[in-house]
Amino acid sequence: MKTTFEKKKLYIDGEWVEARAYTTLRSPYSGEALAEIPAATEEEVRLAIAAAYEARGKMKPMPAYQRAAILEKVASLLQERSEEAARIIATEAAKPLTTAKAEVARTIQTYKFAAEEAKRIHGETIPLDAAPGGENRIAFTTREPIGVIGAITPFNFPMNLVAHKLGPAFASGNTVVLKPASQTPLSSYLIAELFEAAGLPKGALNVVTGSGRTVGDQIVTDPRVSMVTFTGSPEVGIGIRNKAGLKRVTLELGSNSAVIVDEQTDIDRMIPRCVFGAFSFQGQVCISLQRIYVHEKRYDEFVEKFIAAAQQLKIGDPLDASTDVSALITPQDVERSLQWIEEAKQSGATVAIGGERQGNILLPTVILNAAPTLKVSCYEVFAPIVLINKVSSIDEAIELVNDSRYGLQAGIYTDNVHVAWKAAEKLHVGGVLVNDIPTFRVDHMPYGGVKESGFGREGIRYAIEEMTELKLVIFNRNQ
Ligand code: SIN
Repeated sequence: MKTTFEKKKLYIDGEWVEARAYTTLRSPYSGEALAEIPAATEEEVRLAIAAAYEARGKMKPMPAYQRAAILEKVASLLQERSEEAARIIATEAAKPLTTAKAEVARTIQTYKFAAEEAKRIHGETIPLDAAPGGENRIAFTTREPIGVIGAITPFNFPMNLVAHKLGPAFASGNTVVLKPASQTPLSSYLIAELFEAAGLPKGALNVVTGSGRTVGDQIVTDPRVSMVTFTGSPEVGIGIRNKAGLKRVTLELGSNSAVIVDEQTDIDRMIPRCVFGAFSFQGQVCISLQRIYVHEKRYDEFVEKFIAAAQQLKIGDPLDASTDVSALITPQDVERSLQWIEEAKQSGATVAIGGERQGNILLPTVILNAAPTLKVSCYEVFAPIVLINKVSSIDEAIELVNDSRYGLQAGIYTDNVHVAWKAAEKLHVGGVLVNDIPTFRVDHMPYGGVKESGFGREGIRYAIEEMTELKLVIFNRNQ
């Protein structure tokens, strides 16, 4: 593939710049060398931030139709290169090719949504005369770009989660310094090429790869950066929040997402969705289905059918179009997952299938009767591991779902509208899915969590609210 085995360059102020230091990027699946990736120095990060700071002068006055046109162009250029883009994701992230293609299709949608939203950023009028003393004034609000946005993105959706930062940022006239995940920089370099070809002003996008300490910390602490938008682990997110001072911060963090299966429901229809939710991209999705709570009257049937379906999954090379499950992002993640599975076994839980590795692949693993205090229950596993537990009532299931440090999305399958209503009301999460898995996401819906799952919302329109300052203008007619 053209993009691999190359020495990549930093993208600063609209130029591709040779870096002073490099690291080798390797395939998580085979370990083979893929490319030489810049490890940006402090000076290089400073230059990137300075370029983004200067470029505010070009982005803020740019009319909405021009911002929209750039985003539309990026969407159409990505469409033209979609096969190549999917192979880049599959190669650098070990994301099975079919799943990688789905991510590229979503990324195109995300940029299209951003182009549309660029044209409808507006405020409202405020009836000031509702308060005594407010007579003879007219007031309205506008939304202004916040300035330089530091975007720190994860490996698991290396194109679409970058689009969730760049799309709304440029739609609302901001500039960006992007630090992609160390394991998945190639996707971001491709996207930078597309923005360059689409006519984004120089300096509006800067891509700096390198370590969290050198690049990430500098982005988070530099006073010229007005906002940090981060998707990744709660540990890193909490660190960012603590260092960011008065900067605006949005955090999309992890979760141990759950679904509840009520007694009144069609098990056969939900099984393929639940298997997809648990094992898609090896469970390395923030809303991956990690915990399933099934009513005792349907438990045995559910477990039997779920396991039968999970055993059909094809394990293998991410570039093989028939592969469902491939390597975890690092060998350390395989080790950690195995340790957590062992802890569950030792505590008396049953490992019904999986629990073993094949190279860097962890086989799809189903654990029954896991206690809520185990690591596989209460932390985000980010691996193809799912727990299926029996509950005697919906109230018990809701309590178990809420007994979590996280709260991103949760699902409930039920034919009973009263049960659905209760769950929607009582589940303490950012999004409740009735008759679907928590793994559902389309790119214009508000997306984000409560508790350690973070704060702020993505989904283009909602991200634009986070990335703009509300300004109030008051005209006094008496003067
Ligand atoms: C995530 O893992 O945070 C994003 C999930 C998605 O976009 O489907």
